[in-house]
Amino acid sequence: MALKITVIGTGYLGATHAAAMAELGFEVLGLDVVPEKIEMLQRGEVPMYEPGLEELLRKHVAGIEGSTGRLRFTMDWAEVGAFGDIHFVCVNTPQKHGEYACDMSYVDAAFETLAPHLRGPALVVGKSTVPVGSAERLAARLAELSPAGEDAELAWNPEFLREGFAVKDTLHPDRIVVGVRSERAEKLLREVYVTPVAEGTPFVVTDFPTAELVKTSANSFLATKISFINAMAEVCEAAGGDVAKLAEAIGHDERIGKKFLRAGIGFGGGCLPKDIRAFMARAGELGADQALTFLREIDSINMRRRGQMVEMAREALWGGSFLGKRVAVLGASFKPDSDDVRDSPALNVAGQIHLQGGQVTVYDPKAMENARRLFPTLGYAGSAVEAVRGADVVLHLTEWREFRELDPAVLGQVAGAQVILDGRNALDPEAWRRAGWTYRAMGRPTA
Ligand code: UDX
Repeated sequence: MALKITVIGTGYLGATHAAAMAELGFEVLGLDVVPEKIEMLQRGEVPMYEPGLEELLRKHVAGIEGSTGRLRFTMDWAEVGAFGDIHFVCVNTPQKHGEYACDMSYVDAAFETLAPHLRGPALVVGKSTVPVGSAERLAARLAELSPAGEDAELAWNPEFLREGFAVKDTLHPDRIVVGVRSERAEKLLREVYVTPVAEGTPFVVTDFPTAELVKTSANSFLATKISFINAMAEVCEAAGGDVAKLAEAIGHDERIGKKFLRAGIGFGGGCLPKDIRAFMARAGELGADQALTFLREIDSINMRRRGQMVEMAREALWGGSFLGKRVAVLGASFKPDSDDVRDSPALNVAGQIHLQGGQVTVYDPKAMENARRLFPTLGYAGSAVEAVRGADVVLHLTEWREFRELDPAVLGQVAGAQVILDGRNALDPEAWRRAGWTYRAMGRPTA
């Protein structure tokens, strides 16, 4: 009999995982505690912007014309407990307010609520990013609270998807990592990850702590790469070098690689910043804080770049104050192809300039609603052209394709002053300069 799967939590991770499991042919039941989310998902609508996800949902959600009907959603924990052979826990682990540590309350609540409903053999699979040692603790809790006792087993299966590429990364991951304690758990997870996910994909089997650490160390490495190139950008700025050329040149060395070496205003989002902080906090608890002191520097280089972008804007306005100056901000999401504004470097820069008296007008292709909710006092425009109209300086802060395709000549006609600062090193300097703009980018010489 085919395995039945439940997915607890329907954010970027859970909604995508549920749809992907249905795509692989399983019967899937997704659970969330937010009624509006469940209602949307049941209609085949996605509560966030994620390319390709809506199509995949509509292909499988029961009740939608022409769907396979393999995917349903509920708020009923008892139904979930009775339905699933395998339960994937995909709830989020945000940063605790005012602390580095991550907030485990959603994960803990998911386990505590699910466990009493597990009456027969079941595999609960944690996918959330958690502090190392959590799986060990949750396994004990599961055995204690579940009527199935030892038959309710735990596995840890970290997820590496990137927002904006969630569907692709879930159906075609670089690797599958499973932390297991029994052959049965490994066998079940191998049954879950069938072709096309499994095809040619390395399947790494580990113990619990290693599986948890793979995720946090991978994100730490990525954050380190970005802050490394941003540190080089600072040196380039001081020495008159060009960080874009430097990144290209060092990237030819396969040991270094080209990816994640784009200098600019740094990383944000719901993962990298909070994951490196939670990792430091956990290492401290384990007495291994010295091993991760470098991450403190990675974090501060990253945060410093935002302030340096503000200074660059001030210099572009002849070093004076922002008072009475109009600043156009292109981009609000923490990265392109996403409407996620959590810890967005773009909005942070916009907010700093606004606090210093600048009249900021933001435009983003998809994140306007989320940005307005988080920063209601900023100005917003309905298009890039409207944002730039009358601006004394234009800041390019999230590298959407739409911004790369803008015609600098058209913007030149509406701008107050033709000065553009590229906080993502993603625009074509020559095209902008040819159209009469002063183009400046972080870590590159002024022409
Ligand atoms: C990240 C990891 O990539 C993913 O594997 C993990 O599962 C979750 O965290 P995500 O947060 O979706 O994914 O975004 P990512 O594409 O990694 O970008 C993170 C941030 O780094 C963005 O703000 C992006 O603009 C920035 N970035 C990325 C750079 O500043 N320079 C780069 O070269 C690459």
